[in-house]
Amino acid sequence: MVITMNTLHLHSTPAEVKQAGELLRAGQLVAIPTETVYGLAANAYDADAVAGIFAAKGRPADNPLIVHIASPDELPPLCSAIPETAGRLIDAFWPGPLTLILPKSDAVPGIVSAGLPTVAVRCPSDETARAIIRAAGVPLAAPSANLSGSPSPTTAARVAADMDGRIAAIVDGGPCRVGVESTVVTLCTEVPRLLRLGGVTLEQLQAVLGEVEMDDAVTQPLKADAVAASPGMKYKHYAPTATVILVKGDAAAFCRYVNAHAADGVEALGFDGETADLQVPFQTYGRREDHQTQAHAVFEELRKADDRHVRTLYVACPDSAGVGLAVYNRLLRSAGFQVVTA
Ligand code: TXA
Ligand code: MG
Repeated sequence: MVITMNTLHLHSTPAEVKQAGELLRAGQLVAIPTETVYGLAANAYDADAVAGIFAAKGRPADNPLIVHIASPDELPPLCSAIPETAGRLIDAFWPGPLTLILPKSDAVPGIVSAGLPTVAVRCPSDETARAIIRAAGVPLAAPSANLSGSPSPTTAARVAADMDGRIAAIVDGGPCRVGVESTVVTLCTEVPRLLRLGGVTLEQLQAVLGEVEMDDAVTQPLKADAVAASPGMKYKHYAPTATVILVKGDAAAFCRYVNAHAADGVEALGFDGETADLQVPFQTYGRREDHQTQAHAVFEELRKADDRHVRTLYVACPDSAGVGLAVYNRLLRSAGFQVVTA
């Protein structure tokens, strides 16, 4: 893609939110903050504008986008049916980091859902995100605002690193509160099925739905011959340039394992209070039991490792309770499923 645009850097003031809305209405691409990660938005009803998202990100055309709305009232025109389970999930988790897959209405252009008969919809809780959607006056299709395959951006500066010159504007709403993407649940299967873990946890979903199935792809690489329920799962994801290796084990085992692999360009990402014995440069991303902090920090730490030109990053593996499961899932993909037990 030719890089020619002068990308505006806007803030979440009423005047600049209005300006962002006007750009979106006019078919331009604008990166917007949400509580999960920054999104790269376009008018969901404008197929040409949506095509621009795929071009700017280098996103495969068969990977569908999430449509963002400012209020649950804006859902009906986007889908052809709203099952009873959707109502319960919306009451419990919207606005917030939960994406629902529903049967698509004809109002949504096929390019948004990559030709699937379903559509992904989410009502973000971030106030700036919702103000921009209202200012645009249309639902916004938005994937994460990174170049395809890279870690999702959780600050406007990281969006700019990937998107400056490719899009009309970036609205800076500060660092994202959650730090990992939304949880994706499809209601187009007999039993609601979890396609991606994120800001809403498996435990929270089970409390509302009772039965929830978890797609294999949440914790395993997609088998070569399998059809992805969520096309995003078959692509390399969240990967920094550094090689990431996830290390399972307690503090002592982690330090021993990493020290045994010490070399030029080798660094560690460990838990707060568990790095005293490390003999390589290290960062931390929260205490072992503090999954919220880990979620908040994980993508930024992967990008910072690239800033330092780290060759191999050994990461202490989070346990899989609560949001920890979402952090684990992102790190698994960053690591290309390389996990060692120390
Ligand atoms: O938190 C989030 O969800 C962020 C913010 C910006 O809202 N967005 C985001 O979008 O993470 P993206 O495009 O990076 O991830 C969307 C995921 C992909 O794995 C995609 O395959 C899946 O949702 N998806 C979208 N529409 C789908 C559909 N109709 N059926 C199945 N999976 C779908
Ligand atoms: Mg993404």
